[in-house]
Amino acid sequence: MLLLLIGGFLLQYPQLIPFVDTLDPNSFFDLSRHSFGRLIMLLPVTYAALVFGIRIGLLVLLAAISIIVPNLFILEIPITADDIIEIIGIVIIGLVVNLWLESYETDKHHRQMAYLRLENAQRELQRMQQNLRFYLKQITIAQEEERRRIAQELHDDTAQDLIAISRKIDGYMSLHPALPSSDEAYFEDVHQHLNRTLSSVRRFSQDLRPSVLDDLGLIPAIEWLAPELDKHFKFKTEIQIIGKPRRFPVETELVLFRIVQESLRNIGKHAFADKVWLTIDFSDQATYLTIKDNGRGFNPPERIGDLAVNGKLGLTGMQERARLIGANLKIDSVPSQGTTVTVELPMATDSKEHTY
Ligand SMILES: Nc1ncnc2c1ncn2[C@@H]1O[C@H](COP(=O)(O)OP(=O)(O)O)[C@@H](O)[C@H]1O
Ligand SMILES: [Mg+2]
Repeated sequence: MLLLLIGGFLLQYPQLIPFVDTLDPNSFFDLSRHSFGRLIMLLPVTYAALVFGIRIGLLVLLAAISIIVPNLFILEIPITADDIIEIIGIVIIGLVVNLWLESYETDKHHRQMAYLRLENAQRELQRMQQNLRFYLKQITIAQEEERRRIAQELHDDTAQDLIAISRKIDGYMSLHPALPSSDEAYFEDVHQHLNRTLSSVRRFSQDLRPSVLDDLGLIPAIEWLAPELDKHFKFKTEIQIIGKPRRFPVETELVLFRIVQESLRNIGKHAFADKVWLTIDFSDQATYLTIKDNGRGFNPPERIGDLAVNGKLGLTGMQERARLIGANLKIDSVPSQGTTVTVELPMATDSKEHTY
């Protein structure tokens, strides 16, 4: 910039360098040499504004004017209106260039700030999502643990107590064979009531956490669950296993079981179907679980998670649970054409599996 200023200065004062004297004052693109010299002074002004900002830009404009103006008096020719207009023009252009570059810089700065804010917001959102996922995972684990504990207590304590009471009644009756028939009928009624309560406690316990899942694994658990729900909801589930069955880690099998359980309950509650096809396909790359019904179908929202806002947590829970084990859950449904829930569990996530 200093070089440009010096260059401009020399153009204003060519008498300081001997050879320029010989130049034709009118040879610069139809501009007089003085006009050209003045215009050239805009170069350092623009450069300074561009590189160092408006303050230095204005300072250089001031310097340029203080180089140009004294020359008017040094040249011993009359000062014309053109000279004055030219100098005013240069001042105006210099100012405009400075202001324009300044506003451009400010804009750029604002854009950068907005971009940074957006990036921060995105990072914050990502962190919040991660926290939410972690929280959801912990809640799911805690819920399953609680279910397991209650199921075990029902099975080990409540059911055993009911059995003990039932035995006591049996014992009392066999010790008193000559009971009046009204008493005998009464005890028989209590005995039957106890047995019904025992069955429902067992069913409740199995529903909370089927011991067959822990003892024998996913397929036997599904084979136990499906007829239970068939009976309850009055549809018929056809189970098909394709490929060589594999075992997965406990938590993976539990998630797949819960998905089947919620899907079959949804069919019972909403689909009005009479037929369900449940398929588990153990292919080489992945395991596919499909639950398809011939019910009335529905219009699933674009994001299944949106259902949660209306208190419908079943499908959202299924999707989130699937994500926890690295699986992908898809719901395909069209009104009056049934619903299909598909879970794809890639091979990579079931590395801890072992065969039946
Ligand atoms: N198999 C199905 N057939 C028809 N509609 C279904 C089926 N599964 C789910 N739906 C619809 O999706 C909605 C959300 O299901 P879900 O999240 O499990 O909540 P909920 O069962 O508590 O209503 C249901 O209210 C129902 O309208
Ligand atoms: Mg549901």
